[in-house]
Amino acid sequence: MMRLAGKSALITGAARGIGKEFARAYVKEGATVAIGDINLDAARAAAAEIGEGATAVHLDVTRQDSIDAAIAEVVAGAGKLDILINNAALFDAAETVDITRESYDRLYAVNVAGTLFTLQAAAKQMIAQGHGGKIINMASQAGRRGESLVLVYCSTKAAVISMTQSAGLNLIRHGINVNAIAPGVVDGEHWVHVDSMFAKLEGKKPGQKKAEVEAGVPAGRFAVPADLTGMAVFLASEEANYIVSQTYNVDGGQWMS
Ligand SMILES: NC(=O)c1ccc[n+]([C@@H]2O[C@H](COP(=O)([O-])OP(=O)(O)OC[C@H]3O[C@@H](n4cnc5c(N)ncnc54)[C@H](O)[C@@H]3O)[C@@H](O)[C@H]2O)c1
Repeated sequence: MMRLAGKSALITGAARGIGKEFARAYVKEGATVAIGDINLDAARAAAAEIGEGATAVHLDVTRQDSIDAAIAEVVAGAGKLDILINNAALFDAAETVDITRESYDRLYAVNVAGTLFTLQAAAKQMIAQGHGGKIINMASQAGRRGESLVLVYCSTKAAVISMTQSAGLNLIRHGINVNAIAPGVVDGEHWVHVDSMFAKLEGKKPGQKKAEVEAGVPAGRFAVPADLTGMAVFLASEEANYIVSQTYNVDGGQWMS
């Protein structure tokens, strides 16, 4: 039996990487999935690759009008919204003394405000529908503790963990479960970017930071996006009805809490 049969999901930042794999997994479990991304061409390509059950929707999580329009488009197409994954995020790295207001504002606009106000708009829709829902926020092991060169990104992910706790407590009375996933290190374009930033900041060769980080993962390797889909399907399913405000580590043993 498919675990998300008949459900309608919106996944932000799902044109590539982890979000795209979540979309693929949700469609396999019987859901219809809107791939919301600021890069509409890439979202369309992802939807075409996944096939029936997946659609693309333009979404810039930093703009309220875009969030509202994307949710209206999902509801117009599928008749409802049952599941949201707040997956879109940006990364940056710098020495503490070199952090710019531009970088701070850019990351907080997507990772924190984008997560909060997309969650809010989805929750309003779910409350109006009257039969609950599931909201999953993408946190990170970076939200569990600081990293020397990653102050802004780490603090945004700590905020995601905290917002998951408060929103979860507030929304469960409407039957809306809010939980989060904290991945460790996941192979993909995000890490190509991270590795190149560390190459510049720490004078490393391309690929060197990635190899060093991989050596420290207890499971012995980077995750691939498919390593995270089990948790994403579970948290969106009826099996998770009694799970509230939690953040689950899916990180090959990097963090325990
Ligand atoms: N890759 C990792 O190692 C890792 C580890 C821990 C947590 N995470 C988290 O998992 C999530 C997915 O990571 P990923 O590696 O697949 O990321 P990614 O960088 O590959 O993809 C991010 C997507 O978000 C989209 N996006 C950017 N700004 C947007 C905006 N304003 N509105 C809508 N979409 C926007 C991009 O176009 C892109 O498609 C993120 O929240 C990330 O912080 C990733």
